[in-house]
Amino acid sequence: MKEVALCFLNLFIFIFGWVLLPVLETTFCNVSLKNPLILASGILGLNKNNLLRAQRGGAGAVTIKSVSLEERSGHETPNIAFFEAGMLNAFGYCNPGIEEALKEFSDLSCFEVPVIASCTASNASDFAKLVEALDKLDFAAIELPLSCPHTPGHGLLVGQGTPEATKEIVEACRKKTKKPLLVKINASLPGIAEIALAAEKAGANAITCSNTLGPGMVIDINSTKPVLAFKVGGVSGHAIRPIVVRSVYDLYERIKIPIIGLGGISRGEHVIELLMAGASCVGIGTAIALRGHNVFEKCCNEMLGWMKKHGYKSIEELIGLAHE
Ligand SMILES: Cc1cc2nc3c(=O)[nH]c(=O)nc-3n(C[C@H](O)[C@H](O)[C@H](O)COP(=O)(O)O)c2cc1C
Repeated sequence: MKEVALCFLNLFIFIFGWVLLPVLETTFCNVSLKNPLILASGILGLNKNNLLRAQRGGAGAVTIKSVSLEERSGHETPNIAFFEAGMLNAFGYCNPGIEEALKEFSDLSCFEVPVIASCTASNASDFAKLVEALDKLDFAAIELPLSCPHTPGHGLLVGQGTPEATKEIVEACRKKTKKPLLVKINASLPGIAEIALAAEKAGANAITCSNTLGPGMVIDINSTKPVLAFKVGGVSGHAIRPIVVRSVYDLYERIKIPIIGLGGISRGEHVIELLMAGASCVGIGTAIALRGHNVFEKCCNEMLGWMKKHGYKSIEELIGLAHE
């Protein structure tokens, strides 16, 4: 009789342990997140109502589209092309400029989850001006994409994907804010660990890996011409996931600051894979087009199912598990 009672007690603790324990809750750069899934920059633009759709869809945090000092019209359309394993985009950082963004995000009280700012510029001094402006609002962190593969004057096409340029930009921005600075790098570059180390040394609080890769090209064989008006675009979605997993795995062994893994994630199992590679949080972008705005909620449920089956009770237990 005593054994049966004990057995029921154990069962009770097990079941309620799972229900009550905030299994997916985590902390990133001292910011509390209800789950480790972050809406990637650029996917839902610079409009609060659009970003709120990701919050309603279960995101643990959301990132705004990268904003520049002046308005940018971006590249001509077509600026998106789908292929079997993902998509190419060549938006060219179209955005209304910092003044409009500051108006849009002056009040962030409608958000229950942290909002991450993102900005883009062609030199360290403009990056610093943007960070100084964004610092005044209630953003939880500021992301610096030094890694766009398809926009002349910004990212890789202006040489920002080098340790030297990274150091210069991060040092200039570090002077303008105490908020966490996330440096977004590109997994298609050789020597990403050196770039991440330069960012870490210059005062970055985390690395986001990765921006879109490439650039790549898709040709319409009927018109005989590239599909994108800009001809080339950054590759995102399924195709880039193994490269991102390998990059995050390598970075985890080289840097001390945490990593946001990003690229090709569309299922809870993918999130777990990237956590095991060494990411502390995971971004989701293109998968919204595949699974809807509630892809975050779907991934959380898949993660919970897998974690319960395999006896994991926290995100922290999974981070870096693939390493020796
Ligand atoms: C349409 C589109 C627009 C993007 N715009 C930005 C941007 O403004 N700033 C940025 O840092 N990354 C931007 N990205 C890159 C994403 O944030 C992300 O790094 C990339 O898409 C890889 O993740 P995914 O495979 O989950 O989409 C954009 C990606 C797409 C597809």
